[in-house]
Amino acid sequence: MSDPVLLEITDDIAVIAIANPPVNALSHSVRQGLDAAFAEIARRDDVKAAVIYGTDRTFIAGADIREFGKPPQEPFLPDLINRIEACAVPVVAALHGTALGGGLEVALGAHYRIAVPSARFGLPEVTLGILPGAGGTQRLPRLAGVEFALEAITSGRQIGAEEALAAGVIDRISDTADIREMGLSYARELIASGAQPRRTSDIAPEPVSPDVFEQARAKLAKKARGQLAPQNCVKAVEGALSLPFAEGLANERALFQELMESDQRAALIHAFFAERQVAKVPEINGVEPRAISRIGVIGGGTMGAGIAVSALLTGLQVTLIERDAEAVSRAETNVAKILQGSVKRGKLTQEKFDAIMREAFEASAEYATLATADVVIEAVFESMEVKKEVFTKLDAICKPGAVLASNTSYLDVNEIAAMTTRPQDVIGLHFFSPAHVMRLLEIVVADETAPDVTATGFALAKRLKKVAVRAGVCDGFIGNRILSHYRKAGDGAVLAGASPFEVDRALVNFGLAMGPYAVSDLAGLDIGWATRKRLAPTRDPREVYAEFADRLCEAGHFGRKTGKGFYVYDDGGQTPNAEVIDHIAEERAAKGIAAREIPEQEIVDRYMAAMINEAARVVEEGIALRPLDVDVTLLNGYGFPRWRGGPMQYADTVGLEKVLADIERFAQEDDFLWQPAPLLKRLVAEGKTFADLNNA
Ligand code: CAA
Ligand code: NAI
Repeated sequence: MSDPVLLEITDDIAVIAIANPPVNALSHSVRQGLDAAFAEIARRDDVKAAVIYGTDRTFIAGADIREFGKPPQEPFLPDLINRIEACAVPVVAALHGTALGGGLEVALGAHYRIAVPSARFGLPEVTLGILPGAGGTQRLPRLAGVEFALEAITSGRQIGAEEALAAGVIDRISDTADIREMGLSYARELIASGAQPRRTSDIAPEPVSPDVFEQARAKLAKKARGQLAPQNCVKAVEGALSLPFAEGLANERALFQELMESDQRAALIHAFFAERQVAKVPEINGVEPRAISRIGVIGGGTMGAGIAVSALLTGLQVTLIERDAEAVSRAETNVAKILQGSVKRGKLTQEKFDAIMREAFEASAEYATLATADVVIEAVFESMEVKKEVFTKLDAICKPGAVLASNTSYLDVNEIAAMTTRPQDVIGLHFFSPAHVMRLLEIVVADETAPDVTATGFALAKRLKKVAVRAGVCDGFIGNRILSHYRKAGDGAVLAGASPFEVDRALVNFGLAMGPYAVSDLAGLDIGWATRKRLAPTRDPREVYAEFADRLCEAGHFGRKTGKGFYVYDDGGQTPNAEVIDHIAEERAAKGIAAREIPEQEIVDRYMAAMINEAARVVEEGIALRPLDVDVTLLNGYGFPRWRGGPMQYADTVGLEKVLADIERFAQEDDFLWQPAPLLKRLVAEGKTFADLNNA
């Protein structure tokens, strides 16, 4: 392996190049190399300045996350940065790409910072469940002010070069294309002007009112409910004001260590790598995707309009097909409305909006206009009959090699593919609502789907900035199949004695964005009702079927859109619907169930055990390739708290024995719903975890 840190002395300037692809992370060998370089500079008397820069695409993008959780090896980053800062000659950081986390901390330890206009900066540690543990919480407030630092560190957001310059994070922006030359010419200028080292730790931070910290804490308690890292970030920045520099650093270190040992850190780092690992699908390894520039979307309702917008925003041409002229005009309005929302939020200019509507988007009732589309995504009603009719038409019209995709939520993609003479070109592309916002895309691979069609699905997802997960064909694929099971566990808890409102509250307290009953109100209770009716003929007579949601639907209460569902919606507020309690009481009486009190923890245990158990089946059947694919699905499509890493990571954290024991306990009440998945039993017997399967 080539040297990750190269030192050359040129014109009395020590030039230190970091070459540790792909992102120049501060791996052990890089820290060693930097440490040795600064030791060498200290030894020599012919060096008048130093420049640090990153080769290839970026400066340092942070600590090497793969080393987290392993025994730390010297030199430690905080000591290394102190050594850089202590250097007796001016040190310049020449910045491009992304200077993130430990990378930005190295730059803050340097004495002067120069960057190209496209460079981006940030301390994203909080998103990994930790805090900037190498002086970032002490140096950034000194350079850019406490309030700026608090916001940047607790949000972890990326900051552009202009903003960084205005805030004092960097000293200069330069257009020089050659990064090494950019650093060198700045260093030469500093030497010529007699500039001295300028240490960030020497700056006295500007005092702020203690209210600033209190307000930050209160805001984060709401926005980052349940999370440790943002609160520790506040404490660390507070230390920058209240403590001398060295003590502030020690305080930061202690708070960092506490987070390093937390389950939340392990979960967030699992999520980071899982979202990258999920695109590694053996069957498309080395397979070239088909070219995509023109997309067809069929159906311009909730999903079709969102899918069209998602494609339009990334520069694709979109033709949207609806049933008749009236529906075409409704679809056009739907698309324009969503795009206008982007204009209002400042994400899209009015000129760009006009150009998209004029040049990239067309809506029509003529299927023939799809003849040139590279990918056609069907998003018509969730009815096999309608879908079959559509795919028969597509088969007759679309050019050879066009990818024919269905956005079905539950239906059999093999059956849909069989309507065409080209099943190898048919795939499921399951978007989530709202499709222009939600990051998840399930790529449903049918029996005959060609690998380059699957590769095209992944390539399209990347272009649309979505996280794609490969799924096999079954009722509901990965996410909705698991959802239908944990929803039944929620209903089971309600029949046993909890109210839907208690279930929602318990799960929100657990960290879900919304409780399941509030979510069904939002999605429309009619959707689940239609699925339950469709599946009724195949329902096992042993299933304890909860009817209370059907009672609401029969009364015409479909949730938010009708003003009433599990909750009543008026004046922008939401209150529990008392009618639900009556329906439940009647149902319990009819079923002979004596309600008992269900503690909050039991609600969570039931819900999670059902989720994990069905997820284990989904993995065992190959519907999901690995446990991590389930985690990515639930994290990005179902509001599962990221800081818990997904259901499989959560299962490993609490222990698979406990999950199995819970299932066996609940089975005493309902042994049809609660049958342990064979994979779960096997892993427990073998003393293994889901993580072992990810790494297999
Ligand atoms: N450590 C180890 N590997 C990393 C890494 C890191 N900090 N950052 C990225 N990688 C790896 C990725 O896993 C990926 O590997 P594979 O190709 O094997 O999947 C590869 O580098 C490329 O990454 P991306 O696919 O994400 O590339 P991108 O161009 O889309 O994004 C990026 C580049 C913006 C740097 C992005 O990777 C990123 O945000 N990385 C994390 C940055 C970060 O959080 N830094 C802070 C680390 S914590 C820290 O520094 C703590 C401290 O104070 C001591
Ligand atoms: P919707 O009812 O809002 O829109 C369907 C649209 O399809 C209507 O505008 C209708 O006019 C049009 N349409 C029906 N038949 C057509 C035909 N033969 N040719 C052209 N257009 C036709 O439905 P929604 O919610 O957009 O769902 C569409 C599909 O997406 C369904 O398969 C659904 O299961 C799936 N889906 C829905 C999600 C949701 O949250 N709504 C989430 C993910 C997938």
